[in-house]
Formats: sequence, C-alpha cells, structure tokens
Amino acid sequence: MTTVFAFANQKGGVGKTTTVVSLAACLAEEGLRILVVDLDPQANATSSLGLSPSSLKQSIYEALLEEVSLLDVITLTKRVRLDLAPSSPALAGAEVEMVGMLARENLLRRALDGALDRYDFVLIDPPPSLGLLTLNALTAADGGVIIPVQCEYLALEGLSQLMNTVNLVQEHLNPLLKVAGIVLTMYDMRTKLSEQVAEEVRRHFPGKVFQTVIPRNIRLGEAPSYGETIMDYAPHSRGGISYRMLTKEMMTRFGIEHDQERSSISAKTEGIPQNQSSTLRTNLWARRR
Ligand SMILES: Nc1ncnc2c1ncn2[C@@H]1O[C@H](COP(=O)(O)OP(=O)(O)O)[C@@H](O)[C@H]1O
Ligand SMILES: [Mg+2]
Repeated sequence: MTTVFAFANQKGGVGKTTTVVSLAACLAEEGLRILVVDLDPQANATSSLGLSPSSLKQSIYEALLEEVSLLDVITLTKRVRLDLAPSSPALAGAEVEMVGMLARENLLRRALDGALDRYDFVLIDPPPSLGLLTLNALTAADGGVIIPVQCEYLALEGLSQLMNTVNLVQEHLNPLLKVAGIVLTMYDMRTKLSEQVAEEVRRHFPGKVFQTVIPRNIRLGEAPSYGETIMDYAPHSRGGISYRMLTKEMMTRFGIEHDQERSSISAKTEGIPQNQSSTLRTNLWARRR
C-alpha cells in the first residue's frame, strides 16, 4: 500500500519544500521507498535534490498534460530509495492549459496510478497558491495534507482559506482527504513570538500539530544551494536532527514501520548517519578483536 501526502500552504517561504525533501531523505534512510513529486514551476525541490530543472528532458508537466508515462519522467537522486518526478519551467503554463480539460483535478492522481506500486510513500510539493496544481495535489493525497506553518507573525493568516479548500476537495474530489498534520517551522528559540505562534496554532488545531518543532537553522537554508538534502549536507545540525525527530514522530503517528532489511540504520546504530555508523561498526569490531 502506498500513501500519498501533499504538503500544502498557499503562503510561500514557509518551509514546504525544505520539509518535503528533508522528510523524504529521512524516510528513505529508514528503508522506505519514496517518490517526491515537484509540482511547483519554481522547481525548488528538484534543485534541492541536486537536479537541474533546465537540463531534464521530461518533467511532471509531460506526465500531466501529454501522454507521457510518469515512469518515464521519474529520475533517481543521489539518495538510494529516493526518486523524483521533477518540475520544469514548462509547468508555469500548466494551470492555464488545464482549465479546459475534463477531470482537470484528477490529472496527477491518474498519472500516479502506474507508479504507485514502486513506492511506500509519495510526497507532493505543490506551488504556493490554491490553483489547479494544488487542487491536483490534494485530490491525489489519500494520506491527507500536511501543513507547514512558519512561526512568524500572521502565521494563521490564510489557513482558514486553505481549510475551506481542503473541505471542498474532501467533499467533491477526494473523500480520503484530511489534515494529517501540521508542522511548525522556522521556530526561533530566542523570540517570544515563535512561542506565542506555536501556542496559538496548537490551540487552533488541537491534536494536529506535531510535537517536534523545526528550528530556524542556517544549515537548512544552505543545503539547497549545494543540491543536497540536510541528511547529506549537515545531518548533525539542529535542522537535521529535528527533521529526523519529525520523521520518527510521523512514523509513530501513522503506524509506519522502519524497514529492517533495507534500512541503512541498524538497531544498534539508530540515528547515526551511515558514514559514522560504519566507523562505529569498525570500532566495535576492533574492540572485539
Ligand atoms: N528551518 C529553517 N531554517 C532556516 N531556513 C529555512 C528553514 N526552512 C526553510 N528555510 C529556507 O527558507 C526559504 C523558504 O523555504 P522553502 O522550504 O523553500 O519554503 P516554501 O517551499 O514554503 O516556499 C528557503 O530559502 C529555505 O532554504
Ligand atoms: Mg517551495
């Protein structure tokens, strides 16, 4: 069974893309097979995963609007078990082209059909708007929507509009759609404001907000410019550690099991990145000798 999550918030710069690529890398590390779908014409998820949008022959655009199979569009990334359906600048015109199409909100769901059995999870990164691309993401999201909320002034602004959209899609297009979780991002421990915003969001959405809060962390801001996820760029940074904690919390909340056989994290070395865990293993081995 594959679960599809959409990460939506029509505000830009709230940490959607960062959350998608970081969680994708962490879940892949847990042995799960992950597909990231970059639905944003700005293609930040694509470049954050080390691919250059302009050099790709095909993108999600062709899978949505031309008769190209999603399997022909999907590309591997540097991370094992983490594949990407990349975006391209062509996607910028997609919403206009979709308007006249039949079942235009179902294009992504249909495109995903033939690829789902290859993955445990699909994480969709839509653009910062409530247009047709985001509607396609919500319609395909049988696992629900996860909403990243930035711990800044006016954080709640726009969320009621997003909730209306979620309710409409749930009623008319995807009965399985629900708010699967809310992630507080860019939390600044030095300010009272972050704390107040976090409290307010928790009050507004009881039971929905993940306990793990993502701090404002410079490494998270730097990683995309190296085309690396935080798990490669700075796994021990506060940003890296908190996304790993969020992954664990998500796995507990949704009953997701760590894949013992495929995972690079063995029970003994849990939470220690691959290169260090091999050092650890070598040390244990040396001591035993
Ligand atoms: N926790 C964080 N700490 C510091 N910078 C962050 C954090 N999360 C995201 N960023 C940076 O903030 C900017 C916006 O984040 P992004 O994930 O692209 O948001 P969105 O996809 O919602 O537009 C990016 O430059 C990103 O690298
Ligand atoms: Mg983005």
